[in-house]
Amino acid sequence: MTTDARTGPAPTPTGPLSQIDYSERIPNNVNLASDRRLQRALEGWQPKFLDWWKTLGPALPTKDVYLRTAVAVGRDGWAHFEHVPMEDYRWGIFLAEQDPDRKVNFGKHKGEPAWQEVPGEHRADLMRLIVVQGDTEPASVEQQRILGNTAPSIYDLRNLFQVNVEEGRHLWAMVYLLHAYFGREGREEAEQLLKRNSGDLDSPRILGAFNEETTDWLQFFMFTYFTDRDGKYQLGTLKESAFDPLARTCEFMLKEEAHHMFVGTTGVQRTVERTAELMKEHGTDDVFEHGGIPLSVIQKYLNFQFSVSMDLFGSEQSTNAGNYYSSGLKGRWQETRRKDDHVLLDDTREMNYIENGKIVQKTVPMLSALNLDLRDEYAADCANGVRRWNQALEDAGLEERLFLPHEGFNRRVGVYANHHVSPEGEVLDDATWEQRKDAWLPSPEDRRRVAELMVPEYEYGKFAGWITPPSTGINDQPVEFDYVHLAEEGLA
Ligand SMILES: [Fe+2]
Ligand SMILES: [Fe+2]
Repeated sequence: MTTDARTGPAPTPTGPLSQIDYSERIPNNVNLASDRRLQRALEGWQPKFLDWWKTLGPALPTKDVYLRTAVAVGRDGWAHFEHVPMEDYRWGIFLAEQDPDRKVNFGKHKGEPAWQEVPGEHRADLMRLIVVQGDTEPASVEQQRILGNTAPSIYDLRNLFQVNVEEGRHLWAMVYLLHAYFGREGREEAEQLLKRNSGDLDSPRILGAFNEETTDWLQFFMFTYFTDRDGKYQLGTLKESAFDPLARTCEFMLKEEAHHMFVGTTGVQRTVERTAELMKEHGTDDVFEHGGIPLSVIQKYLNFQFSVSMDLFGSEQSTNAGNYYSSGLKGRWQETRRKDDHVLLDDTREMNYIENGKIVQKTVPMLSALNLDLRDEYAADCANGVRRWNQALEDAGLEERLFLPHEGFNRRVGVYANHHVSPEGEVLDDATWEQRKDAWLPSPEDRRRVAELMVPEYEYGKFAGWITPPSTGINDQPVEFDYVHLAEEGLA
């Protein structure tokens, strides 16, 4: 049974405080009905969003998809699963519960009550932070638009669509803030979020990694592992914001984000497992001809996605980042768990840079290096998945291992831009880089051979030959569950 988008039965809410109102055209837990002007403005934006979804959302025609929808924002039982036509997904506005006693936890306003309104002096900066975050959400949907055509299974297809609808909801999350707190300018920015498009030459998305093509499923898994994880870390800093509505919005987005990274971690792992099986079975590293993706190519995809995602953290040293922190707009990862004064005026840290062809260190003020602080947290987290993938190689009895490239590898932003660094951390001249880069980054030929393996497998419970099945299904359903019903035209 499916729920009609506008009028049908709503999932049952689970808790009084955190419950979401599904009787409204725009589901929400912010009592939207009490603010007619805002409600009308968002209802005016809604059809534009749906138009965008139809034009630039998933290309594969489907009848319905087994999706989770937020029911409540509380700790337990927030997700409700059912088959829904994707265009009827209940995109809405969900903020984590408000803590009436919440304080600003860092910077020069530390100890003051959190802000329920935008302070005039921080209006421009806050709006910019929200716009940049908002821009990444629909970008990834656009990047992943055609992947449904080559899904390795119905299980994976469902996961792709779940990620897509939730990135669409994350756009709603940011658009709500723009409409509710930034007046006419905010509404204009909300329009622009649908007008910029990934890879568009005239009007591209704001950040580089969100204009790269997602060419195939291995890249999708790397994207959800590395680039969605960048999202997790950015949201983690905004969750600390003194501007309480932003903090509460990001806190709930983080709950959805966890599944996106699960898709990446397990997707790469299943690819590696299949590769390991084929390597052992055929006694060769070049498993392309046996229908798998060679480990060396998986490593190149990893190198690429890690390096473009590292660029998303911006320059290591940034006056803006320091100002955002001191002003209370954006905290550090797990700010409240850090054992320091949360003001950082006297703190310093070491940072790498390149001098005379060598990587050397210097000491810099901590406040100037908060982008680097976040990036280091991110990189340490990235290493966990690599360990897990290597465990799969070890379990298969193979000697080969995957690894994270050096932080300076293939960078376009910060101290390593305009330098060449090998994955092992060796500084190289232009000629050497040109000669060797195809051994480190996917070449057009690698991408072509991976693309050849990307044949759709739409039979329930069957999987393409380059990837192993998952150990369990979604929401305790069997792996062979009918997670997606394709439209008749999709089956052709
Ligand atoms: Fe997102
Ligand atoms: Fe995500």
